[in-house]
Amino acid sequence: MLNADKIRKDFPILSQNVNGKPLVYLDSAATSQKPAVVIGELSRYYSKDNANIHRGVHTLAERATALFEGVREKTAKFISASSPKEIVFTQGTTEAINLVAYSWGKANLTSKDTVLLTIMEHHSNLVPWQLLSKELGFKLEFIMVTEDGYLENPEETIRKVKPKLLAFVHVSNVLGTINPVKKLSKVAHKVGATVLIDGAQAVSHTSVNVQSLGADFYAFSAHKMLGPTGVGVLYGRRDLLESMPPFMGGGEMIREVSLDKSTYKDSPHKFEAGTPNIGGVAGFGAALDYISGVGMDGIKTHTEELTAYALDSLSKIDGLRIYGPRNPEDHGPVIAFTVEGIHPHDLATVLDGEGIAIRSGNHCTMPLHKHFDLVATARASFALYNTKEEVDKLAEAVLEAKKVLGA
Ligand SMILES: Cc1ncc(COP(=O)(O)O)c(C=O)c1O
Repeated sequence: MLNADKIRKDFPILSQNVNGKPLVYLDSAATSQKPAVVIGELSRYYSKDNANIHRGVHTLAERATALFEGVREKTAKFISASSPKEIVFTQGTTEAINLVAYSWGKANLTSKDTVLLTIMEHHSNLVPWQLLSKELGFKLEFIMVTEDGYLENPEETIRKVKPKLLAFVHVSNVLGTINPVKKLSKVAHKVGATVLIDGAQAVSHTSVNVQSLGADFYAFSAHKMLGPTGVGVLYGRRDLLESMPPFMGGGEMIREVSLDKSTYKDSPHKFEAGTPNIGGVAGFGAALDYISGVGMDGIKTHTEELTAYALDSLSKIDGLRIYGPRNPEDHGPVIAFTVEGIHPHDLATVLDGEGIAIRSGNHCTMPLHKHFDLVATARASFALYNTKEEVDKLAEAVLEAKKVLGA
C-alpha cells in the first residue's frame, strides 16, 4: 500500500498555501510535480558533473556521458525495451511523434496510403500527420468514440481501412480511456500496419512493456512522470530505427562530414543532433529511480482508487457530467467534466481561489471536444501524491462554486 501522506513530504511544492489555502494540485496530466530527489539531481549534476557529452576525453565529459547513457539504459529497462539502442531522447512526446512523422513517415508513406488515428488524439498526434499528409498526399482516417468514451469498433475499422500506420493514444488526456493497445496492435500488425502509441498519460501510473504491447513506436514525456520539462522519449523497434533517415542534421549525429555529404552514426545517436538536455536527462534518471523505489504497482493501485473515488463523488453532484468511461478499470487518473450553467474557466477560477488547481479548456483535443459538442471541459487529474481528502475538497469546492455562480 502506498502511503500518500508520506510521499507528499518528498514533493516540496505541495506544502504551500495558494490563495490562503493548502495547495490541492489536481493538474498532473498537464505536468506532474517533482520530488526533491529530482530537483536535487539537477543541482548536483550542474554542481559536479556538467560537461558536454560524447565529445570530450576529460573526466567531467566522461562522467556526463556515462550518466546520460546510463539513463538511456534505465529508460530501456523501465519500459522493457530490448536494448538501450531503442531509446531516443527528445524534447517531449510532441518531438518524438514529429520525429516518427518526418523520418519514418517521409520514408514510408505515399499518396496511396492511409494513416489511421482516433478522434481522441492530443493535437501532437494529429497535427504532424495533417502537415505530412498535405505534403505527401496520403489519406487520414479516424476511429470515432462512443458516447461513453470508448473507441468505436476499432478492430473493424483497422481491418477495413488497412492503414500503413495506426497511431493512437494509450490513455486519453481528456476521457481517461485506457485503450486496448495490445489487442489493437495485434489487429494492426495483421493488416501490415506499423503501430505508434502516444504514451504521455500512461507511463506515470502503469507498467509499460513496449514489447508485449506490440508497439513499434512509443512516445512519452519526462515531465508528466515526475521528471524535468524538456526531456522526452521515443522508443522505436531497433530494425525500424536503423532503417530510418535522420530527423535533424548537425553535430553529435554524424560519423563523417565532407563539404558535399555526410555519414551518420547508428541509432539512437543518429536522431540526437546537437547538445541534448543532459541535465534534464540526469533529472529524469532520478525520477525513474524514485518511481521504481515507490513501486509502479502501488502507484497504479493508488491512482486507480483515487479515480474510482472521484468518479463516484463527482457523479453525485447535480448537473455535473463526466466524459469518458464510468468503469474505473477502464479509466486512467484523468477526469473531464462539465457543470451545467458554469463555464469551465469560471469553475477553474473559483476553485483556484480555494487553492485547488484543475485545468479548463480543450486540453489540445479540439476535434474530440467538437464531437461532444463542447468548447471546453474542466479536468482534474491525479498522481501518486494525491489523497482522498483532496478529492473531497474538489467535490465540496464544485458544490460551493455552484452556489456562488448561481448554477
Ligand atoms: C496524450 C498526450 N499526448 C501528447 C502530449 C504532448 O506532450 P508534450 O507537451 O510533453 O510534448 C500530451 C500533453 O499533454 C498528452 O497528454
